[in-house]
Amino acid sequence: MLTDYQENLNGFYDRFFQENSLYLGEGANSGYANLGLFLEDTTDFGAACDNMMALVVSKLKHHDGPLLDVGCGMGGTTAYLHRRFPERDIYGINVSEYQIDRCRERAPKANFEVMPAEQMRFPDAMFTSVVSIEAALHFRGRVEFLREAQRALKPGGEIVVADLIFREEPTSFRRVLAGQECYSDLDSYRKVWIAAGFDDLMIEDITQASWRAFTEHYKKAALRGLLQKRIAAAEFKRNLEFIADIEQLPILAYVVASAKKPVNKKSSK
Ligand SMILES: C[S@@+](CC[C@H](N)C(=O)[O-])C[C@H]1O[C@@H](n2cnc3c(N)ncnc32)[C@H](O)[C@@H]1O
Repeated sequence: MLTDYQENLNGFYDRFFQENSLYLGEGANSGYANLGLFLEDTTDFGAACDNMMALVVSKLKHHDGPLLDVGCGMGGTTAYLHRRFPERDIYGINVSEYQIDRCRERAPKANFEVMPAEQMRFPDAMFTSVVSIEAALHFRGRVEFLREAQRALKPGGEIVVADLIFREEPTSFRRVLAGQECYSDLDSYRKVWIAAGFDDLMIEDITQASWRAFTEHYKKAALRGLLQKRIAAAEFKRNLEFIADIEQLPILAYVVASAKKPVNKKSSK
């Protein structure tokens, strides 16, 4: 049973994905829905999202055993994980049935279920690795998700989360961002991970190469569309308004956080 917030969120994201507007038609079939990671030679959104996945995967120390992708969107992230680890059992969960159906088409060898991050139905100690890309900002809340991930991980298992963190409640995108957990600094964010019982916490700040670079790339891509007459002036204006809202979000940082479940810790609800 979905909460009102999750119903709203699904309405927003399902339509957003159907319209395929996030990447202005670039990398349209990538199945990704995140801001990506722009390196010096990155020229399109799809490549930026592959870079984000490469960074997340580079933090994984276990290269076998079941792996869970939490908040798997349209399956672009899960499909990447399956390509990278063809021998592993890969699972993806999301609160939207529509998106899970698209995931099953995109990565038919992975296992997908409609399931909320905060109340997973997996047995204790099932996974060796858990990842989540740009979805935790929607969870209610992070500590509930991290405790669930901790329960579902084997002792010594690992978690990597690409996370967009707000310093105050945003006034735009209320449908998907209302009730945002806010953090005054990365130390208070760190405390949530410690409270959930994780060890070996590492936090890499990628704000410039993700959120900041995404907005710059988006503006250039929109201008290119206008100059090449692929989009009309009215659409260009809408694109600029959309990206201005993203640029003005009160974001503290975009981080990739990784941690380990202590080896001697049993799972408990
Ligand atoms: C910004 S998209 C990221 C999708 C994907 N990880 C990617 O990087 O392409 C956020 C996703 O989180 C999902 N989501 C939101 N709240 C969730 C929850 N409580 N449990 C599981 N997934 C959730 C949304 O449905 C959406 O697909």
